[in-house]
Amino acid sequence: MEKNIKFPVVDLSKLNGEERDQTMSLINDACENWGFFEIVNHGLPHDLMDKVEKMTKEHYKNSMEQKFNDMLKSKGLEKLETEVEDVDWESTFYLRHLPKSNLNDVPDMSDEYRTTMKDFGKRLEDLAEDLLDLLCENLGLEKGYLKKVFHGTIGPTFGTKVSNYPPCPKPEMIKGLRAHTDAGGLILLFQDDKVSGLQLLKDGDWVDVPPLNHSIVINLGDQLEVITNGKYKSVSHRVVTQKEGNRMSIASFYNPGSDAEISPASSLVEKESEYPSFVFDDYMKLYAGVKFQPKEPRFEAMKNASAVTELNPTAAVETF
Ligand code: OGA
Ligand code: NI
Repeated sequence: MEKNIKFPVVDLSKLNGEERDQTMSLINDACENWGFFEIVNHGLPHDLMDKVEKMTKEHYKNSMEQKFNDMLKSKGLEKLETEVEDVDWESTFYLRHLPKSNLNDVPDMSDEYRTTMKDFGKRLEDLAEDLLDLLCENLGLEKGYLKKVFHGTIGPTFGTKVSNYPPCPKPEMIKGLRAHTDAGGLILLFQDDKVSGLQLLKDGDWVDVPPLNHSIVINLGDQLEVITNGKYKSVSHRVVTQKEGNRMSIASFYNPGSDAEISPASSLVEKESEYPSFVFDDYMKLYAGVKFQPKEPRFEAMKNASAVTELNPTAAVETF
């Protein structure tokens, strides 16, 4: 797996020194060619990350594991004799931070876990906004452009999906999470530092996103592809299951507000754009039913509202 060696790792502390230009180019190259990069020295305190990881793993044991095992039983997934293509081998719950926090309403969280996730969420929100400005700089867009587009009238949507991918006896029969591109803006992922599983599609091959202690994995969603007029792309990714080890992942989605108007930035369009313009919530309504299908027909369908039904949306999945 030589390809892993090149997976872009960006040291954000270098933005403050002599290597700023190289670091900005590394980010630009990652956005253009990978849709993903991993950041270190991002300013999130390591002890906070350790606490989030420890509490999330405890929470899984105390409040989620039984439910996951019950799900396996009810869906007949304990034996896995044939390949399963419509279920994911994952245990998840969702936290919303913006536009309005639901943290006090999520069941089965200790006060300490709630407070810790609030603190973690706020720091990730600030980091996401800083990263959006780095993207603006690389794209030649004015500072604050992306934040402003995402704002709509009520501000961005920011939420966290907390996942565990328990060990699976037959990884070849089921994915932890089936291949998809993310619908939204910028995704910040705190993944297990030992158990791997996340892979992205690069030039036709699945490439591992390597675990790296105290790093945050960044990836770009469909909205950034539209706004950058395809200069940056959302990239297909998936989670494979493992025979050994329970993989934790905490994915935070910095997305446009529901009424934000999304369209290719005019300075990035030469003639006419291939990409649609729409209200973010309309895109999400479509995405919820077709998350595991390719993105191109989604973009096509958004050009023509009557084509949406032709995509044959299946049962809606929970998404940010
Ligand atoms: C997602 C996702 C990856 C992971 O939730 O959209 O891609 O590692 N998660 O959990
Ligand atoms: Ni994803």
